[in-house]
Amino acid sequence: MTGFDGQNVIVTGEASGIGLGIARAFHDAGASVVLGDVRKDALDQARATFFDQERLAFVPVDVRDRSAVAHLVAKAEQAFGPPAVMIANAGIVPNASVLNMEVSAWDAVIETNLRGVFLSCQAAARSMFAHGTRGRIVTISSIADHIGRLGASAYCASKAGVVMFTRVLAMELAEHRINVNSVAPGVIEIPQRAPRMNDEFGAALIQAIPWGRRGHVDEVADAVLNLCSPGAEYITGTVVPVDGGMDTGWTHMPYSSPQR
Ligand SMILES: NC(=O)c1ccc[n+]([C@@H]2O[C@H](COP(=O)([O-])OP(=O)(O)OC[C@H]3O[C@@H](n4cnc5c(N)ncnc54)[C@H](O)[C@@H]3O)[C@@H](O)[C@H]2O)c1
Repeated sequence: MTGFDGQNVIVTGEASGIGLGIARAFHDAGASVVLGDVRKDALDQARATFFDQERLAFVPVDVRDRSAVAHLVAKAEQAFGPPAVMIANAGIVPNASVLNMEVSAWDAVIETNLRGVFLSCQAAARSMFAHGTRGRIVTISSIADHIGRLGASAYCASKAGVVMFTRVLAMELAEHRINVNSVAPGVIEIPQRAPRMNDEFGAALIQAIPWGRRGHVDEVADAVLNLCSPGAEYITGTVVPVDGGMDTGWTHMPYSSPQR
């Protein structure tokens, strides 16, 4: 996709995985991209993956920290002008059953995945409002916002929170013509990262996907760019799953009668 020339895009949690894919897609489409991540080493690694270093800035940020997020947006304004797009992507996925979970583990997930999204969106929205920018905000949620998973109570709760936050923010920003939507990935393959699941769980997950495979980072990025394109002007407050049909409730049952 092209057509983002001259636009300033901020992506949080971009040093690996989905965020890096989104950042790259915007950059390829002509945007200036500010990449923010809590891991300085990973930011350096991300920087090395870009052939063209023009229109890029890398800013260390902890999205749980209000002043750090304000600094990220200020750096973006300084580097490339007021942001037109914010992608609130940073998130963590630790696993623990409720019986075994430390309170600190619960807090870490909620603070990163929910407070972090709130702070990122608030800072970007304030900048867009102040500059009269008809901007676009996309949060990265998950189909875990409504499909539960054993050991992921904090994660699922945080993503359900992200979705409701997205909807209400869309209502509040509509009068300023700032669109707010969420992209909800299903199971996405991250080539540069060691698998976070064992083989048995991975195989069971594939069985739950009508498309019969994991998604690709580029497929998530395409959905995000589409929501930020001029054609999506009238789309706000919605959630777009990118999940190969996992959201349909498919349980891999056979047809109930012989005719297909
Ligand atoms: N990979 C999937 O299958 C999948 C599925 C559904 C939703 N998601 C969501 O997509 C987003 C990206 O996931 P991913 O798979 O690319 O994960 P990832 O771990 O590869 O990337 C997440 C990035 O966020 C950064 N981060 C973590 N805490 C941070 C903080 N406090 N401040 C700033 N940055 C921080 C990490 O350093 C990392 O670079 C997450 O919100 C995740 O919940 C992923």
